[in-house]
Amino acid sequence: MTRVYNFGAGPAMLPIEVMEKARSEFLDYQGVGASIIEISHRSEEFDAVINETDRLLFELANIPDNYKILYVHGGAQMQFSAVPMNLIARNPEKKAAYVESGNFAKLAIKEAIRYGKISVVASSETSNYDRIPELEMAEVDQKSSYLYITSNNTIYGTRWQQFPSTDNIPLVADMTSEFLSRELDINQFGIIFAGLQKNLGPAGLALVIIREDLLDYALPETPNLLTYRTYAEKHSLSNTNNTFAIYMMKLVLEWLKDHGGVTALELQNETKAALIYDAIDTSSFYLGTAEVIYRSTMNVTFNLAENGLLDKFLSQAHAQGLYALKGHRNVGGVRASIYNAMPTAGCQALVNFMKEFEKNHA
Ligand SMILES: Cc1ncc(COP(=O)(O)O)c(C=O)c1O
Repeated sequence: MTRVYNFGAGPAMLPIEVMEKARSEFLDYQGVGASIIEISHRSEEFDAVINETDRLLFELANIPDNYKILYVHGGAQMQFSAVPMNLIARNPEKKAAYVESGNFAKLAIKEAIRYGKISVVASSETSNYDRIPELEMAEVDQKSSYLYITSNNTIYGTRWQQFPSTDNIPLVADMTSEFLSRELDINQFGIIFAGLQKNLGPAGLALVIIREDLLDYALPETPNLLTYRTYAEKHSLSNTNNTFAIYMMKLVLEWLKDHGGVTALELQNETKAALIYDAIDTSSFYLGTAEVIYRSTMNVTFNLAENGLLDKFLSQAHAQGLYALKGHRNVGGVRASIYNAMPTAGCQALVNFMKEFEKNHA
């Protein structure tokens, strides 16, 4: 069996140990004689899985006791609807403030305007989202029900290095492409959400971490299965949840713990990203596309100075087991997504290839 280094943005590479563990107990989960995906979401065995997933998340992400963990159907974009439906009525004027730092923020805004008055308080659209836009908190209406940001912009390779202080306005963050890749002070946030498919597990489910006092503002028309209170009260098991995704997340969290937790992974992520950014910055053959001070450690975006060589670069990389490096169509060029599961050796292999390609084509 040959496994490639998978630089895809998501669904993305998962740790090999996690895949092997899942395979080894797939047919017979811990002596039950059935797979975890064949048994009830209300069984004793699954109950232990979901409890342990919660426990590991509280521990690894350092989540305070006044927060709830929810496993919500529908992936990250479903949260673009769920967030306003659950929170816009925190203030009777139904106002919310959004920072538009990329395509996913734009989609979140598009969805939110169905439910209230949305102000875009900062945007980097005019520079094709090559940076996190400057945010003046003084310009954010204090009556906003929440302030929404995308902490890491998967397509553009930018991230918030520091998060804004929002005082009494709950900060809501889409952390889909970076949750558990860096240490956070969860207290800074009202809601954090993340689709699982980058650092956490398979696609189709979102992890939502919500401060308890924000659970009671849902618009009356909010579907039961998008109401955060329903998930909080029923331990995300009001109906049949995606048991396989939760089980896979538990394995990923166990792997993360075995590898030193978020502190160790953050250091490793910085080292991995620095390898590739150094290769870009020490050559005029490659051009980084994100402003240096906003660079992401999860998604590294760059172009070739001679664009005509891009297809050749991508196909030769592919032939060498460096998979899915093509940049998103909004940016073009190359994007290396290097989530927690990407080993340093994968980034080194990419850098070796970049140097070799440059030598042969400069
Ligand atoms: C930052 C961010 N938000 C939202 C999404 C959308 O996720 P989903 O496809 O689970 O709806 C993505 C997907 O890549 C993303 O990177």
